[in-house]
Amino acid sequence: MTVEVKNRDCFEGEFSLPGDKSVTHRAVMLNGAASGEAVVSGALIAEDCLSTCNCLRKLGARIEREGDTVFVRGCEDFRSGVELDCGNSGTTMRLLTGLLSGKGIEAKLYGDPSLSSRPMRRVAEPLLELGARVETTDGCAPLRLFPASLTGKRLKTSVASAQIKSAILLAGLSAEGVTTVEEPSLSRDHTERMLVAMGAKIKTDGLCSSVEKSALKAIDVSVPADISSAAYFMALGALKGKTLCKNVGVNPTRIGILTAFERLGVKFTLKNRCVSGGEERADILVERSHLKAIELGGDVIPTLIDELPLIALLCAFAEGESRIYGAKELRVKESDRITATTEMINALGGDCRETEDGFVIRGKKKLAGGTVESFLDHRIAMTGAVGLAASEKGGEILRAECCGISFPDFFEKLS
Ligand code: S3P
Repeated sequence: MTVEVKNRDCFEGEFSLPGDKSVTHRAVMLNGAASGEAVVSGALIAEDCLSTCNCLRKLGARIEREGDTVFVRGCEDFRSGVELDCGNSGTTMRLLTGLLSGKGIEAKLYGDPSLSSRPMRRVAEPLLELGARVETTDGCAPLRLFPASLTGKRLKTSVASAQIKSAILLAGLSAEGVTTVEEPSLSRDHTERMLVAMGAKIKTDGLCSSVEKSALKAIDVSVPADISSAAYFMALGALKGKTLCKNVGVNPTRIGILTAFERLGVKFTLKNRCVSGGEERADILVERSHLKAIELGGDVIPTLIDELPLIALLCAFAEGESRIYGAKELRVKESDRITATTEMINALGGDCRETEDGFVIRGKKKLAGGTVESFLDHRIAMTGAVGLAASEKGGEILRAECCGISFPDFFEKLS
């Protein structure tokens, strides 16, 4: 599907954005493995989270949906011999592999061509150390799981990844003894927060989290709006007007984009801050700003990992030369996001050069617009659309249907 995006001189509006993808995955998966019934409201109804719902259904949980409310009745003894289609979703595949590895079942987890090319040894290897029987296909999906007894251990991950950390912690729920995971810098902590709320024996101390064998109790979850989806409308406010994104999740491990905004000179305000269900939220007002070049790298990267294509785009509109580094993980996302972002910015008329672990972007006052390839990656398609909307003449996004992975009504909201 090709979508035409018209340029506009001004964007002003108030937005309710779709539910947080990470929180929705975890609310469905963990309640699906818990005793009792739960209501997940404000859930993200998009392809990735529907993959999680379908996998849990196959495993024996009861999952029903009315609008963006998901009703979950958990199942403590999962069905064995199941084949689980994880679609495009790395979170579904990696978290489920951890969760299922000590559940005494046999399962095959597979996905689409993009997911089947992403690295899975990073999850399989720590689980093997706990005693799991996990087989990859040359380091990738399909993955095969066999019954095994797990024993807790202390493990260090070499990349800051919430998916790896969560897989280990979820395996630890069925392991004898204590399972500890230490990461090089802090990745998103939604799993830890939800496990606490569900009564698991879990402790977090800086970069380390430890869990003991625990049964989970179902809890209702009210999902905040996803800051990764709000980010596109926040960026349009910064470039071209004034936007208010409502009820956005502002968990401290997810708000690196606000740090990037401060450095870029973006004017923003957080209003109506509150905590609900263990997750901070706020309305975020962003106003047209004069942007200046930034240097971005180090521990902030995991806290804005999914927003990096968009931050790179903002740098293309900023005064001066920006450098983003330490973001090699972008190469193993739904596409190689270093190459895809570089091509997208250059197709818009910008000046971006890829480095091994990031970008060097020379800012311009105006970008012409043009034809943008999505690489079948939702974040590239939506970032490209923001670039076109803020460009001189607009243009088109090729293969834009991939927005359905995380934000099905993105183009309606944009128009
Ligand atoms: C996610 C973690 C991140 C992120 C992904 C969702 C999660 O991946 O890129 O979109 O829900 O745990 P990594 O933690 O592997 O970097």
